Amino acid sequence: MSRTILVTGGAGYIGSHTALALIERGHDVVIVDDLSNSSTAALEALNALAGRAIPFFEADLTEPGALDPVFAEHPIEAAIHFAGLKAVGESVEQPLRYYRTNLLSTLNLMDSMAAHDCWDLVFSSSATVYGDPEVLPIPEDAATGPTNPYGQTKLMIEEFCRDAAVSDPRWRITLLRYFNPVGAHPSGEIGEDPTGHPNNLVPFVMQVAVGRREKVSVFGDDYDTPDGTGVRDYIHVLDLAAGHLAALDHIEQGCDAINLGTGSGASVLDVVETTARISGQPVPYEIAPRRAGDIATSLADPRKANEKLDWRADRNLDAMITDAWNWQSKHPYGFAEAPAEG
Ligand code: NAD
Ligand code: WQD
Repeated sequence: MSRTILVTGGAGYIGSHTALALIERGHDVVIVDDLSNSSTAALEALNALAGRAIPFFEADLTEPGALDPVFAEHPIEAAIHFAGLKAVGESVEQPLRYYRTNLLSTLNLMDSMAAHDCWDLVFSSSATVYGDPEVLPIPEDAATGPTNPYGQTKLMIEEFCRDAAVSDPRWRITLLRYFNPVGAHPSGEIGEDPTGHPNNLVPFVMQVAVGRREKVSVFGDDYDTPDGTGVRDYIHVLDLAAGHLAALDHIEQGCDAINLGTGSGASVLDVVETTARISGQPVPYEIAPRRAGDIATSLADPRKANEKLDWRADRNLDAMITDAWNWQSKHPYGFAEAPAEG
């Protein structure tokens, strides 16, 4: 069944891949983004892959009424809400900006949806809501306890989504808790394009492999893990995008949280070594002190997504790194032009 789907943050990393997957499935997509962490170049690349000009509104969702023209012009039937700020370290330095942006954006979106009789919402939550997990792999009913303001915003949004669903049975909300999204579209034309110093491991390792940075700092080699470095549940962004389509297909009345992960882990050194092997490039690294706030291991229990969404992630680390490297080597500076020589 073809539907008209609003994708907030659709110019960004995960939003662009999901928008493309929706279009490939026959849906109509409308993107809203303020381009604060993305670019028109990303939208152009997305349009080229989609073979059409996806309707786009440049708007800041923290402004009440920002979505009025969108709902006036398009018969929106469901929303996938990616827009927001996501850098953990920055959220510690600028907590109020994070609370303001992430909370207000979601409240304004839900107000606009309700006003236009649109009740299906898929929200980008995060495994960060679990904090330092007591159980591994982590099921959805594990205790929550984010350790930074970014994670707090995700948990607070989850809570007000639950309250909204209790207050009005028309709401159908799925909270997708992503583990560690990596990789890129296999065309190499869209991908993750962090500005400045990448916070996340895979974009950093890619920039080392492509020669933009000298070496990877491995944050700690004395964790209680097989090789002493942090273990994460990396998930290919295409599997994640497919998870959103499955969430829309299976959306139910109420509000439910579902993990999107693979259930298997890779260490920092696994990522470094896989990148060196697949790229054929040297990926020098040094062992550095632990990063404040990091945990040893994060792994999803993905059974609920298997059962309720009939979805599972099937791309392995080699596929993730192959596609990340294809994007990085085709576009060493992401969507930006290479800096002038000299
Ligand atoms: P991203 O920064 O690439 O995409 C977010 C998009 O939202 C950007 O294009 C940005 O310009 C836009 N945006 C930000 N504030 C806005 C505002 N006020 N109004 C309109 N647009 C706004 O990030 P991403 O990695 O694609 O993440 C998408 C979502 O998934 C985020 O909510 C993030 O918290 C969540 N998430 C990401 C990860 C990850 O590791 N990438 C993991 C778990 C959850
Ligand atoms: C992975 C591993 C690091 C960089 C973060 C957010 C989380 C979610 C995903 C949004 C860890 C190590 C990293 C480097 C390293 N985002 N590392 N050198 O911390 O699991 O999760 O992104 O919701 O909320 O916290 O991902 O990619 O930063 O780190 O050694 O230069 O790589 O210590 O073990 P993380 P990451």
